[in-house]
Amino acid sequence: MHIYKPIEWKNNALVLLDQRQLPQKTVYLTLHTAAEVAEAIRNMTVRGAPAIGVTAAYGLALEAGKPYSSIDKAQIDLEQAGRILIEARPTAVNLTWAVERVLKHLQGNKFKNLETLRSDVLTLAHDIAAEEAANNLQIGQNALSLWPDEVKFLHHCNTGALATFDYGTALGVIRAAHEAGKKVFVYVDETRPRLQGARLTAWELEQMGIPYQIIVDGASGHVLKTREVHAVTVGCDRIAANGATANKIGTYNLAIVARAHNVPFYIVGPTSTIDLDTPDGNSIPIEERNSDEITQVNEVSIAPQGAAAYNPAFDVTPAEYITAIITEQGIAYPPFKESLREMVEKANRRR
Ligand code: MRU
Repeated sequence: MHIYKPIEWKNNALVLLDQRQLPQKTVYLTLHTAAEVAEAIRNMTVRGAPAIGVTAAYGLALEAGKPYSSIDKAQIDLEQAGRILIEARPTAVNLTWAVERVLKHLQGNKFKNLETLRSDVLTLAHDIAAEEAANNLQIGQNALSLWPDEVKFLHHCNTGALATFDYGTALGVIRAAHEAGKKVFVYVDETRPRLQGARLTAWELEQMGIPYQIIVDGASGHVLKTREVHAVTVGCDRIAANGATANKIGTYNLAIVARAHNVPFYIVGPTSTIDLDTPDGNSIPIEERNSDEITQVNEVSIAPQGAAAYNPAFDVTPAEYITAIITEQGIAYPPFKESLREMVEKANRRR
């Protein structure tokens, strides 16, 4: 299997695999400032909820490394950088979660000197990254008993190592099933408009040696009606307290189609994606991206000059369409209000 690191701290800089150029080119970008990191999150050099959380934490480590006249000045600049990082993409709560975790540490501690502050921020970023990697491995194991020995999945967007720092969540459960010796096949939603499925998920499945076919998003109804599919697995950008889940645009349609064909629909993600402060789906901010993403492909116009397009990057699937939510703390089943709280409390006790 090809080894690639989507996010790496190297020589006091942050090295990101440029996901915009995959699979045609494997290009790494080296970032030196929090402002560059915020831009990389915004322009989707790095994307996927857990991955942007980890990246933002390293962005704060870069900010902490600047020359400062005092600890107070460092704290002020880090708060400011944290706000800019959080604003880069509004839907994925992992971004806010990671930044707030670092900022809370800064607010709650007195630092002897700038060196201790810097090393604390970097250690926290490494911890967040390592925790996400460990969580993903655990998620894969937690899900194993759900799958028959020969299992066919339908997967939306990209939720592999690229999106999560390491191993993957919804793609991680597929990988874990494959590694456990199950015979796995995946229908890969191409995921318009940024094609995370066709470009990134297919690239990752190739490297894992897992057989797959790419389908256009609109084919999911036909596939679920005419082919054997055991489960739909998708990631998540924010899970509200009642279980309603924001994920890549098209997830909601898929959930309805899965329900119509009695195919179980699983949300897969770490507890860092559960936001108990957001009561329901209506309270989740939905990012709207540039209409060019719809009207152009590789900068070539596919719509009439000046065509209008509406481009919400995420949608919210109501809890009633979700069979279960698979986390590193276990599998949450309805009623989600209780089961999600239990998952978060378990995670907090272990942290
Ligand atoms: O716009 P993207 O590519 O960042 O959207 C990614 C998704 O919607 C993923 O499903 C989600 O972030 C979970 S990644 C494990």
